[in-house]
This record gives sequence, C-alpha cells and structure tokens, in this order.
Amino acid sequence: MADVIRIADIADYDGQDVTIRGWLYNRTDKGKLQFLLIRDGTGIIQCVAFKKDLDEATFDAAATLGQESSVILIGSVRKDDRAPGVPGGYEIGIKVLDVIQNAQDYPITPKEHGVEFLMDNRHLWLRSREQWAELRVRATVIKAIRDWLDDHGFLNLDTPIITPTAGENTTSLFEVDYFDETAYLAQTGQLYNEANIMAFGRVYCFGPTFRAEKSKTRRHLAEFWMVEPEAAFMNLEELMEIEEQFVSYIVQQVLAKNAQELKVLNRDTSALERITPPFPRISYDEAVERLHKLREETDDPEQKELLKIEWGEDFGSPHETALTKQFDKPVFVYHYPTAVKAFYMQPVEGRPEVCRSVDLLAPEGYGEIIGGSERIYDYELIKQRVEDFGINPDHYKWYLELRQFGTVPHSGFGLGVERTVTWICGTEHIREAVPFPRTLKYMYP
Ligand code: 4AD
Ligand code: MG
Repeated sequence: MADVIRIADIADYDGQDVTIRGWLYNRTDKGKLQFLLIRDGTGIIQCVAFKKDLDEATFDAAATLGQESSVILIGSVRKDDRAPGVPGGYEIGIKVLDVIQNAQDYPITPKEHGVEFLMDNRHLWLRSREQWAELRVRATVIKAIRDWLDDHGFLNLDTPIITPTAGENTTSLFEVDYFDETAYLAQTGQLYNEANIMAFGRVYCFGPTFRAEKSKTRRHLAEFWMVEPEAAFMNLEELMEIEEQFVSYIVQQVLAKNAQELKVLNRDTSALERITPPFPRISYDEAVERLHKLREETDDPEQKELLKIEWGEDFGSPHETALTKQFDKPVFVYHYPTAVKAFYMQPVEGRPEVCRSVDLLAPEGYGEIIGGSERIYDYELIKQRVEDFGINPDHYKWYLELRQFGTVPHSGFGLGVERTVTWICGTEHIREAVPFPRTLKYMYP
C-alpha cells in the first residue's frame, strides 16, 4: 500500500506511488482522459484517469464523479510544471480509485453565485479555494498573535464572556438571561484585564467579543475575535511602539507562511512587505485638518459630502479610508476627543477635551484595526466618569477599587482579528474572515 500523504507535501514524493484522501474539486472530461482536481484540505492536485491504464469500472467511476465526491485514490506522482493546483506543478496518474460517495448536484458550481446564496451555503462555501486560503491566513494571524505576546512577557489570561455590565458602551449589548438576572455578552475583556495586570503586570485576553451593532458595513460583525493586551506602568508612546512591532510581526508571518494562499487571493504582496516599524503618527487634530484639505481639493460632490467633518466628531469609514490612502503603512491617530471615546480613557493634561487614546488605521482603506488608550488611574476621576456616563457605580465597585489599592498608570489595546485578516488578505468583506460569521443579517448556518 502506498503511504497516505498530504497534498501540501507532494514535492517530497516525485516518482513515488502515494495515497490521497479527499474530495473532487473539479473534473474536466477529455473522453479517454479525465482530469480530476482533488483537494484534501492541505492543497489541490490534478489527478489523471487514463482509460487505457484502468479497468473499465474504475474509469467509468472517474468519468461520472460529481463535484465534491469523496474519494481515496492511489497513483504515481510526476512533476509537470503546467499542472494546476495548490501548490501545483505535480500531477498524479491514477492507479486505484475508491469512491466513498459519488456526490451529485453540489449547489456551489464554478459559475458565479450571489453573496446571499453563498452565505446560506456557508457550510459548503468554506470548501472553495478563496475561502480556504483566507481562513488559513486567519490561523497564521492567530498563531502570530499568541507567539508574539507570549514571547514579549504578556501572560494569557481569559476573561469572562458573561458579564453583569457594559464594557465599552451601552448601545450594543446582547442580553442574556442569567438565572433570572440580566447579563450581557462581553464587548471587551479589558476591564478584567485591568484587574489582572495588577496581579500579573502584563496580560492579554483573546476570545470572542460581541456587539449588537445594527451596522451593515463590510467592517462589522456581531461576534468577532479580539486580542487585548494590557500592561501596568505603560504609557501611550510605549503602547504605539508595541502595536507597530506586533502588527508588523503578524503581517511578516503571513508573508512567510502563506505565500500560496496570498496568491490564490491575488493579493498584492508588495503592499504587505512595506509593513515594518515605525508607523506614521498623527494627532486627531491633524487628521481633521488633513480631511478638511482633502475635502477642499476634491471636485467630486459625493466625496465633498462624505468627507464633511467638524472637530469633535468621530470618523466614519469614508474619513478613515481617505486618511489611510495618504500613507502606505498603517497610521496611528492619537488624542481623539474625549466625548467620542470610552469612559475609561485618560484625559490629556491641560486639555481634557481630548484623551490619551490611539487608533491604528490599516492602509488601502481598511480602517480601524486597533483601538487603545491610557486608562484613567485616579480614583476620583474614574468615579466621576462612571457617573457621567450614567452607569450604576455599584456595578463597577470592583473596577473602581483597582484605583484604591495600588493604582498605577496603565494602557492597553484591542486588535480585531477579522478586520486584520480582511486587510492582510485584501478581501472585500469582513464576513469571509471567520468560518461562520454572525452579522445583523446572518445567524444561519
Ligand atoms: O475600539 P474597540 O471598541 O476597543 C475596545 O473594545 C477596547 N476595550 C480595546 C482595548 O483597549 N482593550 O474595539 C477594538 C477593535 C477595533 O479596532 C476593531 O478591530 C475590532 O476591535 N472591532 C470589530 N471588529 C469587527 N466587528 C465589530 N463590530 C467590531 N468592533 C470592534
Ligand atoms: Mg474603536
């Protein structure tokens, strides 16, 4: 019996007989020759069934296989530069073909389908090449996140998903009935991280977070994965240095490990090769000035309308897109107006209308991938802010106590995995950056 191998390792088996277990991705019928593109989860390879090499039953089985039929086959590997596939460049001459199921009428054919149809068939759509490529990039991103933080003194501690109060804002909470009490799905693990750093110094939580956002943009999910590093005794400048190292490492890991996936996605990798520290830094004030200038310069009435902004307003995606197009690396925008940011952000000394926050905006119009800040560490001030925001201070008693027992300046940030993956892959919509997206519109499958 020939060894079972992974298609990804095909180059190690030139000239040998191997066993491949997988699914029929596509078949081309050339009469006496059947070209079967077989995928096994690690790659795609062209397998050839030649009538004169096979008994009649085997050849007939090959010639009638429907898309996504499951098979185990044995054949000999030969190098052929023209052979399509991933990685490609090799072909298998079929000797034995064992059909587990001859699937018929697979709904996703190589022709174009509408997004709605594909989303309803997400459980099958995952098998398509581009989806496969993007989700493999996601896995690299997640590993790079963990590796970098583990290697830089951040301890991974999980934070709760069921929480009694809002973490970010009160407008996007998912309610849960918690033994007859109202609880919410976590919007962030940050507040718990702030307790954890006082015990462990530097920590990160990494898990799913939830926002009941009624936004239908290509950047929003109702359930997304966020990594949130937090560190005691860290200020905004140090935070930016960490972020640019961290994001550059993630991108470089994808370039090193996912060349073939990026190729499947037709990603312009030169845009990614540039992603190295340092990243440009501009203040919110400067960003608004740049937007005013862009708006003056454009003749396009639609752009003029979209780019409207007054000092004090938050950026919408047209603003972020226009700003990031001015840079070929991610850009830090720091010192946002206090009024548009979360209650816990440290005000700038002598200028409390802005806060020591920083967002990282991805290039090519992909928008905010990181939000972070210095946190208020003064007890009276944080108490005041909690009250101003109309939150019940009783619910935050534990959080306020962190400012009573050895409070220290501290900072942290949150990076959204799906937005990062979408940017790195250069794809259009965030929903393809997670296997089973949850959006305003889709909860099934
Ligand atoms: O800016 P956000 O809301 O920040 C926080 O939640 C902080 N507590 C993080 C921290 O300082 N520890 O979210 C952080 C990031 C965003 O930059 C974005 O990448 C992602 O999370 N994000 C979303 N991704 C997909 N869908 C959504 N609805 C998202 N909301 C935020
Ligand atoms: Mg944000």
